[in-house]
Amino acid sequence: MIRWGWAEPPADGLHAPGRAGGDRTAAASCRFWYRLFGPNSLEPVEDRGGPSAMYSGLVSYPGRAYNPGRGHTRRKARQAHRMANVYYVDGNFVPDAEAVFPINDLGLLRGYGCFDFMRTYRGKVIFIKDHVQRLFRSAHEIGLELPWTETEIADLVQETLRRNPPVESSVRVLVTGGPSPDFITPQGKPRIAIMVSPLSQYPPGWYAEGARIITVPYSRPIPGAKSIDYIRAILVLAEARRKGAIEAAYVDATGSVREGTTSNVFAFQDGTLVTPDRDILHGITRGKVLALADERFPVAKREILRAELVAADEVFITSSNRLIVPIVRVDEDVIGAGAPGPRTR
Ligand SMILES: Cc1ncc(COP(=O)(O)O)c(C=O)c1O
Repeated sequence: MIRWGWAEPPADGLHAPGRAGGDRTAAASCRFWYRLFGPNSLEPVEDRGGPSAMYSGLVSYPGRAYNPGRGHTRRKARQAHRMANVYYVDGNFVPDAEAVFPINDLGLLRGYGCFDFMRTYRGKVIFIKDHVQRLFRSAHEIGLELPWTETEIADLVQETLRRNPPVESSVRVLVTGGPSPDFITPQGKPRIAIMVSPLSQYPPGWYAEGARIITVPYSRPIPGAKSIDYIRAILVLAEARRKGAIEAAYVDATGSVREGTTSNVFAFQDGTLVTPDRDILHGITRGKVLALADERFPVAKREILRAELVAADEVFITSSNRLIVPIVRVDEDVIGAGAPGPRTR
């Protein structure tokens, strides 16, 4: 159990998890979150409720095991990486290597499908209701009628997770258009798959020193749906990597920033926290950050021109897997002083 007695007093600010002054202890990497969301202790999320408890808890254990501070759980996490994961595919639980959809599925043939991505904290999926509801919204937006209820899908997620190694995991719920004899007309028989895999870890430097993003022209079609079409994302992420950036932000034809390929974008402008609201995927993390920020800063959900973004005092991106990442460079422009600012440190 990490104790907070030595930590600095809480101060307002959106602090990402990071490592303080090269100190490599887990406690040091938690300190910023403690300061961000108040003095929450590290009781299990399910006992405490409320997004602030969850967020401080989320990064309190940055490893994949439920408690990586203990040797045997670290070992468990390593073993889990060697073990096969179990997926749920259309009624069956199968080893990941055997998980297949027939090739005439409209998801494969026409990119007709959507998904949601969630993660665990101490073995429990967090914000599962928000994610399952968004899956239904996505399906509705693409005209895919799901024959399951929200509860059935949530229960299937829990059951799939139960059959997987007991480490921190990511969960993808994928629904596709299903079979189609003429290869384009849906038959009203969507397929579902639930994929569990060990949670990815990201370089601590992203959080401590900030990261770089690029901007690219694009508007996602049907932006409110988490559709399975990430072709543009794959292309621009390759470009981002070549340029030493971790993400690419889409800028629409009017010059407004919409979102990242797999993240939402925020900026501090003259003390106001600004984030686009129109034509984006409404990220679950974005929603939680907005709820928390509302108590601390003026918040404006409005357009951000690319020119405004690069001139902002602070920029950060949010997503379920990476949480909050401070951005210190957008294309060739340095944000603020080139280091995570006082509110996104
Ligand atoms: C296009 C897009 N926008 C935003 C997000 C962030 O959403 P969330 O916070 O729910 O992960 C994602 C996540 O993958 C995404 O794909």
